[in-house]
Formats: sequence, C-alpha cells, structure tokens
Amino acid sequence: MRIGLLTGGGDCPGLNAVIRAIVRKGSNSYGDEMLGFHDGWRGVLEGAFEPLTIESTRGILPRGGTILRSSRTNPYKRENGLEHVRRTLAEHGVDGLVAIGGEDTLGVAKRLHDDGVNVLGVPKTIDNDLGATDQTFGFDTALHIATDAIDRLHTTAESHNRCLVVEVMGRHAGWIALHSGVAGGADVILIPELPFDIDEVCRLIRRRHARGRYFSIVVAAEGAIPKEGTLEVSSGRLDEFGHVRLGGIGHLLEREIEARTGYETRATVLGHVQRGGTPTAFDRVLATRLGLAAIDGAHQGGWGMMTSLRATNIELVPLADAVAALKQVPLEEYERLGVLFG
Ligand code: F6P
Repeated sequence: MRIGLLTGGGDCPGLNAVIRAIVRKGSNSYGDEMLGFHDGWRGVLEGAFEPLTIESTRGILPRGGTILRSSRTNPYKRENGLEHVRRTLAEHGVDGLVAIGGEDTLGVAKRLHDDGVNVLGVPKTIDNDLGATDQTFGFDTALHIATDAIDRLHTTAESHNRCLVVEVMGRHAGWIALHSGVAGGADVILIPELPFDIDEVCRLIRRRHARGRYFSIVVAAEGAIPKEGTLEVSSGRLDEFGHVRLGGIGHLLEREIEARTGYETRATVLGHVQRGGTPTAFDRVLATRLGLAAIDGAHQGGWGMMTSLRATNIELVPLADAVAALKQVPLEEYERLGVLFG
C-alpha cells in the first residue's frame, strides 16, 4: 500500500516515535511505501511531502517535535479544500492517510472519512483531553516538565516568602494543572472545568500563612476562568479552528492575589516549554504501540477508526467517538484532591 502520514495541530513529544513505528512496521511487515506530508493538512492540500523510509526515520525516536512539521490548517476552511485533498491522494496513488493529531486534526479526519477519503487517526495531545482513549502520548512528558518546574519554584518561593503562580497549558481541560499541581504539592489548583472564586483562592493562601507557612504555590491551567462577574479576563486572536489564543490568567492572578492579600506574588508562564524536548519513556512506548496498531489497522481496512489506549491494551475505536466530546477532569476527582489545598 501507499500510506500518507501527517501530524497536525500543536506538536507533542512522541510524534516522531509514531512516525518511526509506522514506517518500520509498514516497510518490514507489509512492504508499504510511505509518504510524509508536511505541515499537517497543508501538505495534503498542496501536495507537499517527502518519501519516508527506515533510513530517513532513523534516530528520531527520542526527538521531540515532528520531523514532518505541523500546522493548524483546516482543509474545510480552504476553498475547494476537499477537492485538493482528493486530487493530491489520486495524483500520488495514496491508498489512505494516517492522521496523527488532537481534536481538530481528528475532527477533519472524521469529516474526510465521511466524505469518502480513507483516513485512520492516531490520538496525540499534551492536554490529555481526547475522548475514547484513556491517555494520550505527550501528556506524561508535559506533566514531568510542569512538575519539575513546580519543584524548582517551590524552593525559590520558600526562600523569598512569595506566592508563586504557575500557568500551565490546558485550554478546556485541567489534566496538566491537576496532576502537576498534585505531584508538585501546590496549595491551589485552578482548572477550566470549574470557574474559580478569587476570594476563595486568597482565603486558602491566607489560611496557609496564618498556619506559619510564608509561601504558596498556585497552579492555574491557561483556560481557568473566574466565576462570572468576578474578574475581567482579556481574549485574544482566533485560529482556523476558532480557538482563542490564551495566556494571561497567570498574570491576572499575580496582580489580584498580591492586591488582595498583600503577599508578594509572581507569575511564571510555562507555555511551549511543556511541549518541547525529548519524550518520556512512557510516551515513547505508548506512541510506538499506537503507531504499530495504526499500520495494522490500515491493512485491516480500519478507515474512519482511531487507535486508542484502553486500560493496558491498544484498540481501534471510531473516530466519531474520539471527537464527540472532550475528556475533561471530573469534578468529583478535583474535589477529592481539593482537600490537599491551602
Ligand atoms: O492543544 C495543545 C495545546 O498545547 C494547548 O494546551 C494550548 O492551548 C495550545 O496547544 C497552544 O497552541 P499554539 O502552539 O498554537 O499556541
């Protein structure tokens, strides 16, 4: 078969491990030819690709990012996008595509499948918010980076009697904030799923100080929002999938906590550091297993499906299930862990 690969959306540690696994198994077990499309869906729209071989993908397993590069291009937002996709695949004799991406990339994959294009998905996102899979690769790496940052901020917060706010990624889901906050012993954790009350945040910090601790750590997901009518948050530009460019909650909290409590407060925005660099061993193995299942799936005619981690097994699930709803932090879980705050 001739299989096209692409990586779309925000990059994620482990993407290269998926590419390597697909190329190795496709070449060794099936005698496939692989085409790597550049910059996500843009490469498919414009016919921009490179041949992928075992030789050309050597040494990429521990490398972060994606050798195919990525973009947030949406073919359905481009004039005659579907026709361009069909033309590229027909011109180069591509039997099917493996799209490695998050909700947006896989949403496009599902639509293309509905429109008769052979596509199979592999889930990725550091945010861990995709449905129909227990965990996405990239999350474990982001979690380690965020936890390491919190550990480091802890020692300097303590030395200076400061309240340090750490803003982590997570637009609609607070998995990175919750897990890194718990692992790093944060005193307050704010997630997008539950709008926060700034007075309650300050109460927890004051209570801690009254108990003799003169520093605090607040972890906030970038998508954390104040309860309606309590604090004004600015909004930014939109991308092709209609997402607002976030960032800013950390500095808002910095200003408000300091003004309300009188404790010196500083914010650190971890940003893209969380997505960069080498994947953890866990993410390399998960990504490899998902890649192997993807190439098997393509040969079993699993178009319209996605590889998925279910408990400890890798299975194929419908793409439709994966993009039906975001997997957010259950509030009971947040509340259970909330007993540790302050
Ligand atoms: O979807 C993954 C993610 O890392 C989000 O947590 C974050 O909001 C977004 O990507 C940032 O995207 P960009 O790299 O386009 O700024």
